[in-house]
This record gives sequence, structure tokens and C-alpha cells, in this order.
Amino acid sequence: MKDIYILGIESSCDETSVSIVKNGREVLSNVINTQIPIHTMYGGVVPEIASRNHINNISKVTKMAIKNANINFEDIDAVACTYGPGLVGALLVGLSYGKALSFALKKPLVGVNHIEGHIATNYITYKDLTPPFLCVMMSGGNTQIIHVKDYNEFEVLGRTKDDAIGEAFDKVARVIGLGYPGGPKIDKLAEKGISNIELPKTHVEGLDFSFSGIKTAIINLHHKDPEINKENLCASFEAAVTDMLMEKVKAAVEKTNMKKIVLAGGVSANSYIRKEFENIEKNGIKVYMPDLKLCTDNAAMIASAGYYNYILGKIDDLTLNAVPNLKLN
Ligand code: KG4
Repeated sequence: MKDIYILGIESSCDETSVSIVKNGREVLSNVINTQIPIHTMYGGVVPEIASRNHINNISKVTKMAIKNANINFEDIDAVACTYGPGLVGALLVGLSYGKALSFALKKPLVGVNHIEGHIATNYITYKDLTPPFLCVMMSGGNTQIIHVKDYNEFEVLGRTKDDAIGEAFDKVARVIGLGYPGGPKIDKLAEKGISNIELPKTHVEGLDFSFSGIKTAIINLHHKDPEINKENLCASFEAAVTDMLMEKVKAAVEKTNMKKIVLAGGVSANSYIRKEFENIEKNGIKVYMPDLKLCTDNAAMIASAGYYNYILGKIDDLTLNAVPNLKLN
């Protein structure tokens, strides 16, 4: 069978990334230009600044991705591009560039849902992973438990009612003075602390979550006592959030009888959460965790998800628009 080369483009937030992936699983190049140092100054992502930087970076990043993969533009079979969810101005830069590339090269355009991309990270990390499985999607903008029935068939079993888990990490970190992005900073500090602070855990019906209550509780504790031990605060926050997560994951496993659990999204890089998931690997349950380098936004995951759309004939035309609040399916 002929090898299929997909050029993936990701620009939904503050990473400009272009990647070449062969047959959906083999990464030939994955160039990521992160704007984190720019947005750190503002304590979070400033959408307009993100869009402007994507415009400055996208051509250079694309040329570098082609060069690093040691291929030519003509070798590409399709251009896969994130079209949502994300910041509309940021999405439009990558999507417009992708459309222009697809038109100029006369290659099909494949729109990719960013969440499907995060799931596909695991197809790159584990060459033999196939659906069906349960995916625990934990990122800065999303927290969902998804029944991945096939490469292109998803059922969302539960989702956050308010803050995404990564958003809670980032907001807590900002208030206690750790800066942006907060997740990795809380992760590091928590390793030095002990979970000794009782925190309220919000219980939501079914498989949905709520993280805003715990975030507010931490912020209030810090306002009441700015000298409070930050290491213990971070460790307690992480332990409580993980408890809330695991309760729903266990319920989802029981409901679906799925034995494969796949983690996805930036927060799946968290060391405490990873350890807790390792602990549930019994009774035939296997947990798949994405390569740390691919947990946060990158275009290899978009190219991989794009490959599965492409081979199923899910091709888009040049009228494809950015959809900031795009849902799965
Ligand atoms: O998946 P991602 O790159 O962006 C979205 O698609 O939303 O996730 C970014 C999120 C941020 O909230 C960041 O703080 C969080 O992932 N994150 C972490 C860790 N590394 C990144 N959260 C907790 N622990 C980490 N080690």
C-alpha cells in the first residue's frame, strides 16, 4: 500500500505548529513555536497577540517542518488543519494558511477537531492502540470522558459544567503567584508538599464534573492567609481534583465495561494524576498515557487525526470556517 503523508497545522491557542506524519502514526517532523514567554507577561493568553504571532510564525514553521521531514511539498497527500475549538482569530490564521496550501498544491483539505487531535496523540505514542476505548480528555479548555467507539465515532459520557481542569490549575496558580501556565508549576510545587488541607469536593450527577468550587476554595484560603504553605496547598489541590476525576473515571469504566483507558490533553502530563492512573491498572484495565512531549498542543496530533479523516474520505472544501466552540461529532 502507498504511504500517506499528511501535513498537519495547529494554531488554536498559543502554539504555532506544523508537522508531517506518515500513515497516521510515524512523526517525520513536528515543529512547535510556543508563545508562552510572550503571554507569561500578561498572566494568560491574550487572543489578539496570539493571532499576530501565528501570522509571523506560520510560514517559517511550515518550511522548517518540510525540511526536517526531508520531503517536498509535492509529497504531501493532504493538508490537515485544526478548525476548532479554540480562539477564533488564532484558528483562522492556521486554517487560512492551510486552505491556501491546499489550493496551491492541489491537495485535499481536511478539517480536524482539536479534541480529536489530542486523542490521536496516543496513536502516535502506542503504535498498536486501536479503538474502542475510554478517553479522559483533560486540557486547558476541555474536560470530558469520551467513549471512543471508532477513529471517527465518539460519545461524550461526561463533561465539566464550568471550568476545565487545566483552567482550574492555571487560575489557582495565577492567584497564588506562580504565573502562567500554572499546571506544570503546581505539579512541581506539589511534589514538595503534603496533602493536609481539607477541601470541598463538588458532586455532580452522572459522569459530569465541576471544578470551579475547589478553585474558589483554594483562592479564598490564600486570600485569608497569604502566608499559607503553598507546597501543601498545591498538593491538597492536586489530590482533591484527582479524587473527583477518578471517581467519575471508575464510574465510566463500570458503565461501559471498557478495559482500555486513554489519557489526553495538557493536564495528562501531571505527575500525580499519572501515578493515580497507574494505580488503577488492575483487573485487566490498561492505561495509555501520551508521550509527555505530545501532551500539550502540537500539529503531529492534528496530522494523525487528519489521516483517519482522510482515509475515510472526510474531506473539506475551501468554505470550511473556524468554529470556536466546536463539539465532538
Ligand atoms: O492541551 P493543552 O495544551 O491546551 C488545550 O488544548 O487546552 O493544555 C494546556 C493545559 C494548561 O492549562 C496547562 O496548565 C496544563 O495543560 N498543564 C498541566 C501540566 N502541564 C500542562 N497541568 C497540570 N500538570 C502539568 N504537568
